[in-house]
Amino acid sequence: MNENLSLIPRPVSVKTTGSFFRSPVLPVPEGDTAFRNEIETFKEQTTSCTNRRDAQAENGKKITLVTDKSLGVEAYVLEINPQALILKAASPAGAYHGLQSIRELVLSSRGETGIVLPCAEIVDYPRFPWRGFMLDCSRYFYRVEFIKKIIDALSLHHINVFHWHLTDDQGWRLPVQKYPLLTEIGSRRLDYRSKAGYSGGFYSREEIRGIVDYAASRHVEIVPEVDLPGHTSSVLAAYPGLGCTGGPYRVEDRFGIFEEVLCAGNDGIFDLAEAVFDTLAELFPSPWVHIGGDEVRFNRWDACPKCKQRIEEAGLTSSRELQSWITVKFARMLSERGKTAIGWDEILEDSERYRLPEDAAVMSWRGREGGLRASRLGHRVVMSPNTEGCYFDYRHYKDPEEPGRLQVSTVYQCYNMDPAGPELTEDEVPLILGGQGNLWSELIYAGKIAEYMIFPRLCALAEALWTPRAGKNFTDFTERLPVHRERLDGLGLLQYRGPLG
Ligand code: ACM
Ligand code: ZN
Repeated sequence: MNENLSLIPRPVSVKTTGSFFRSPVLPVPEGDTAFRNEIETFKEQTTSCTNRRDAQAENGKKITLVTDKSLGVEAYVLEINPQALILKAASPAGAYHGLQSIRELVLSSRGETGIVLPCAEIVDYPRFPWRGFMLDCSRYFYRVEFIKKIIDALSLHHINVFHWHLTDDQGWRLPVQKYPLLTEIGSRRLDYRSKAGYSGGFYSREEIRGIVDYAASRHVEIVPEVDLPGHTSSVLAAYPGLGCTGGPYRVEDRFGIFEEVLCAGNDGIFDLAEAVFDTLAELFPSPWVHIGGDEVRFNRWDACPKCKQRIEEAGLTSSRELQSWITVKFARMLSERGKTAIGWDEILEDSERYRLPEDAAVMSWRGREGGLRASRLGHRVVMSPNTEGCYFDYRHYKDPEEPGRLQVSTVYQCYNMDPAGPELTEDEVPLILGGQGNLWSELIYAGKIAEYMIFPRLCALAEALWTPRAGKNFTDFTERLPVHRERLDGLGLLQYRGPLG
């Protein structure tokens, strides 16, 4: 264990005293009732921990939670002395983060004699408010249990946003009552690997509510994504009248970028969007809805009489501007429902004449340029550059035996990703909400492979998003990683163990 107690992400400050807290059992936390839910979750998370007992430790050792309103909203202060752990926080979120740091220490303290923790004073708070991870549940349909396992692991690393990619060409996973064919037809695709000849599925409303609650109990916000108007083969297969050509269409069983997109000249796509946004507003408490907007091909719109008519009527000059026009409509529909739109960086392209609503946010994935442009225009930004380690579907290392796509995202790149680099002005920095890692699942056809792709890149990214820039040090990270790997092993998470950069 290094002097930072091998915590990942590295806390703002750690001062060790040289003595130890020793207890044959892990005491059940007690204290302020404001933190009752966090204590319950912590108990759940540590049931398999050796020596944990529901009863108080007989030896008088304690974990006590105390409200301290002088602290920041996600901050915590943890004192570990030989008798007790005293955790101070202003809010349940801060208390949760503190409990997760305790959980990390407990996960790496599996001694014969019970719990042994180094005494220390830890002061900790995040650098960015948006610390995200995206899982593509369209290209591969991950089970509810797996999603929960990942959300739990995210929260151990103080990652607080789970961006749930629910729709794409290869499958629509969100039940929408007014459009039942979205799931009846759009959730299933041909799959030669499957005995049935097809694969897929969708999440029921109860399952979605269960995941949202599970995440909320871990202070993880779920931002749902419905990718529009491209990446919609699954929609068109269900409702062919919404395409420019009328079909035939199919839920895609190939991977790539397809020219079939929603017809921008057909008002029916807005009826569909209304129903989808109503559903999202009902099921997801987050103020954000991700509307996708990436990789829209324009050749169908260029050739479609209805789309051409729309361009003329709206006073636009090109199909490219039509995307901005649609994005603005979607964003307004969301704002009528009390939600704010976030989209991939394409939503900013060709938007000079048809400006994005000021409150719309941009997720920068094709490098950081889109995010920088957005911040110059006053938009909020989440940085997730595929050029800097944030694409977890890329290989960990340049080795043909490694699973993954296209390019390489090393742990080192991930660690050094800085959402608010020196190219930003002082005015622009507050617009950078944070950053995110994304796992696209074209080739990730099992939860175990997903885990291998996520860890330990997520650990590096968590530190890039949580720890102050001055506290980051890759060598120190690599010294903490071996102990942290034991914690991930303890949680049954598969991890990549090759070169880090
Ligand atoms: C993306 O990777 N198409 C956002
Ligand atoms: Zn059209």
